[in-house]
Amino acid sequence: MHGYRVVLAPLTRQRSYGNVPQPHAALYYAQRATPGGLLITEATGVSDTAQGYHNTPGIWTPEHVEAWKPIVAAVHAKGAVIFCQIWHSGRVSSYELQPDGKAPVSSTEKGVGPQMSFDGRLEEFSPPRRLTVEEIPRIVDDFRKAARNAIDAGFDGVEIHGAYGYIIDQFLKDSANDRTDEYGGSLENRCRFALEVVEAVAKEIGGQRVGIRFSPFSDYLECHDSDPHSLALHISTKLNDYGILYIHMIEPRMAMVEGRRVVPKRLLPYKEAFKGTFIANGGYDCAEGNKVVTDGYADLVAFGRLFLGNPDLPKRFEIGAELNNYDRMTFYTSDPVVGYTDYPFLE
Ligand SMILES: Cc1cc2nc3c(=O)[nH]c(=O)nc-3n(C[C@H](O)[C@H](O)[C@H](O)COP(=O)(O)O)c2cc1C
Repeated sequence: MHGYRVVLAPLTRQRSYGNVPQPHAALYYAQRATPGGLLITEATGVSDTAQGYHNTPGIWTPEHVEAWKPIVAAVHAKGAVIFCQIWHSGRVSSYELQPDGKAPVSSTEKGVGPQMSFDGRLEEFSPPRRLTVEEIPRIVDDFRKAARNAIDAGFDGVEIHGAYGYIIDQFLKDSANDRTDEYGGSLENRCRFALEVVEAVAKEIGGQRVGIRFSPFSDYLECHDSDPHSLALHISTKLNDYGILYIHMIEPRMAMVEGRRVVPKRLLPYKEAFKGTFIANGGYDCAEGNKVVTDGYADLVAFGRLFLGNPDLPKRFEIGAELNNYDRMTFYTSDPVVGYTDYPFLE
């Protein structure tokens, strides 16, 4: 697979102490940078109400912008392109992570039950407060300002996090959107918040610097839709009106075919509906990635866990080298080195 088709998927690593990106992130991202390669950062909070976990980075203060600059510069020095994934967790948060211990904000008052994390910890969330129609423009504007800050920090663009059960997904999907106003009910209404964010961000920094990520088939964090196909088709078509650069979409979970785990490859209708670049993600390896790019099913393929454990993943794919195993026990630990920058390179 050509190196420039191998995208680093956004990966939360929880090593940004007090929401401030740290110098060790420059090494981590630079390790994964290759000429022409695209890196997407971990989910990065757009405001002080956006955090769902400890030690995730932010991009809403001048201090955050300054802290990102050397990280972006280290990636650019290796000839790669880096987009900042801008994120609001919505109801996936707790009093403890909110300013003045207030309730997290969301599309709904329905909370998320405790979740078992990858490494076996139990995560609990506080009951959310439903945003009023009057308050929604504030959140849209937080995304706009975060995008501006990302450009000021040197990023080549932003990826709006519309996936995996966070605030945009909470508005998109009917399991989490029980509103009766113009932001709920019909497909048009449930997509309104996402499209307002896209419009504001694209106006602020230019559509060609904007991508958006969706996981229509995911049920992660109790966010699922009764008709994910129609939702994905609707939003992929609508996004043509905003001139954005790419859609990044996550496959349904692995399917079993003749006893073998395979990528379901269900995203073609959405790639065909959208005129920009299409990035596929979710369970890919080198062979499956090569296949979908050759077949024209996807323009680029993003790799999460394999890239986490293999800083030189493009090189390994190119020469067919063995891969390091990733260690899920250190995905979210706060050590600045262990499980972060200490995965070995070939030679
Ligand atoms: C440790 C870890 C952190 C993740 N953090 C994010 C994140 O911040 N934003 C996001 O959109 N997805 C996140 N994901 C999902 C990945 O980007 C990707 O969609 C998922 O791992 C499936 O791709 P893969 O099979 O190539 O790993 C995370 C996944 C893992 C394993």
